[in-house]
Amino acid sequence: MAGTRRLRSTHWFGPHDKDGFIHRSWMKNQGFPPDQFDGRPVIGICNTFSELTPCNAHFRGLAERVKRGVLEAGGFPLEFPVMSLGETNLRPTAMLFRNLASMDVEESIRGNPIDGVVLLCGCDKTTPALLMGAASCDLPTIVVSGGPMLNGRFRGQPIGSGTNVWSMSEEVRAGTMSLADFMDAESCMSRSAGHCMTMGTASTMACMVESLGVGLPNNAAIPAVDSRRLVLAQMAGRRIVDLVRDDVRLSAILTRDAFENAIRVNAAIGGSSNFVLHLLAIAGRIGVPLDLDLFDRLGHDMPLLVDLMPSGRFLMEDFYDAGGLPAVLRALGDLLHRDALTVNGRTLGENVAEAPCWNREVIRTRDAPVQPKAGLAVLRGSLAPQGAVIKPSAASPHLLRHRGRAVVFETIEDLKARIDDPALDVDEHCVLVLKGAGPRGYPGMPEVGNMPLPRKLLARGITDMVRISDGRMSGTAYGAVVLHTAPEAVLGGPLAFVRDGDSILLDVEARRLELEVPEDEMARRRAAWVSPPPVAASGYQRMYVDHVLQADRGADLDFLVGCRGAAVPRESH
Ligand code: FES
Repeated sequence: MAGTRRLRSTHWFGPHDKDGFIHRSWMKNQGFPPDQFDGRPVIGICNTFSELTPCNAHFRGLAERVKRGVLEAGGFPLEFPVMSLGETNLRPTAMLFRNLASMDVEESIRGNPIDGVVLLCGCDKTTPALLMGAASCDLPTIVVSGGPMLNGRFRGQPIGSGTNVWSMSEEVRAGTMSLADFMDAESCMSRSAGHCMTMGTASTMACMVESLGVGLPNNAAIPAVDSRRLVLAQMAGRRIVDLVRDDVRLSAILTRDAFENAIRVNAAIGGSSNFVLHLLAIAGRIGVPLDLDLFDRLGHDMPLLVDLMPSGRFLMEDFYDAGGLPAVLRALGDLLHRDALTVNGRTLGENVAEAPCWNREVIRTRDAPVQPKAGLAVLRGSLAPQGAVIKPSAASPHLLRHRGRAVVFETIEDLKARIDDPALDVDEHCVLVLKGAGPRGYPGMPEVGNMPLPRKLLARGITDMVRISDGRMSGTAYGAVVLHTAPEAVLGGPLAFVRDGDSILLDVEARRLELEVPEDEMARRRAAWVSPPPVAASGYQRMYVDHVLQADRGADLDFLVGCRGAAVPRESH
């Protein structure tokens, strides 16, 4: 019992009747003593462990530490698996399954005798999937992130997950790095358990967790193999029991102020563009309406305080050594809602009031930022009526205002077949356009927006071009890359009508993305357009393409938006 309040788990384990017998007896086959069913808080540990998700493969040890903490605090820990999404292995893209995993999480929490839940998250999509599912139930919840890998090291130099895959593979294509050296770098990049150690999407999500207040301080940056990660997991186990006793639900943490804090922090850390999609989806589940333009309004004037790849030089291990996210939160000061409640019972401001910074190269002050303005920019215009995003801090400055001739690829296969063709009519002033990479079109919105540059331009030393698509980009990638263009091409958005030779204007300062084609010509193209056939006739993919929302709504499924609570009135027998 929590005070005089009956916990929801007592509806399973409390009754002295046939149903109570069924719920307790089968659980006792695991060797639980009878007093575990006496009404104490039952804590679900939602585990995304999988050997197919290498970033989360160390989670068994982490779960054991959470259990230790739950037991110390007088709770009853029960670990359960959910679908795990590994970014590097899952085809056609892990994003296709984020919403499916969120359904697994939501129904696993709601359908079981759980009073509070600890979410073990790591690889990119596991964090939003678990938070989305938990938000739709709204029980007391703490996130424990798995932590980043140790810094990559290759021949005396640091190399970052993803970021240096993109750069080295371009060097191989340009002929400035041998294939043998490239292969050598594989094991040097991924040296330990943990997720990508650049400020890619996984690190961005771990920072999001901490800035939202749903993780304990320092959740974002402690390396996966650092013993302090185990301590954090144990403390989360202790703390979730208190949250259940005090009935502090996720909705008390995930307030509008918390979401606004997360948006500002994401700009200050140079976080991934994927953050936009995931935060919109999480907010939609808990019932806090956000719109795409808020990311620009709150973020665009934010200084970049963290010098991490892909925007900068350092890696997550350096970030933790320098003070981690608490040092950033402290430096942001009154730019944040400091009275937002966090899961340790203190406010965000209280948590970071004394947070030290040990290295001002890695974590800057507002007076001496890496860049004065770092937020994602939301673009609109005739090519993106429902918006598109670009990460200016990761783009070459000279391309942030650019007019160029379109070179169009209808699909990713078309791009792969022709991009290195010496006869391709392209120069560095052109704008590469890729269609068919949106939520419905691929399906699942893959990370292909950072298209490879034509080999003949790489050979001339060209390292960046304006690229536009309805897809996403890895958080570890970089370049003048316009993403999430909505409506997507397969829905008949303006992107569908772009042809080779059209003039396109990108003006980040003015937030414009224009297809400079006369309206009468656009009308002719629209009239002649035939929508492509559906990519999936049955199965989960069919449900996904029938119900997925566009990028400006977070690409959730339309029927999953909202909080459905945790009540289950009916018995199973
Ligand atoms: Fe898992 Fe990057 S591949 S976090």
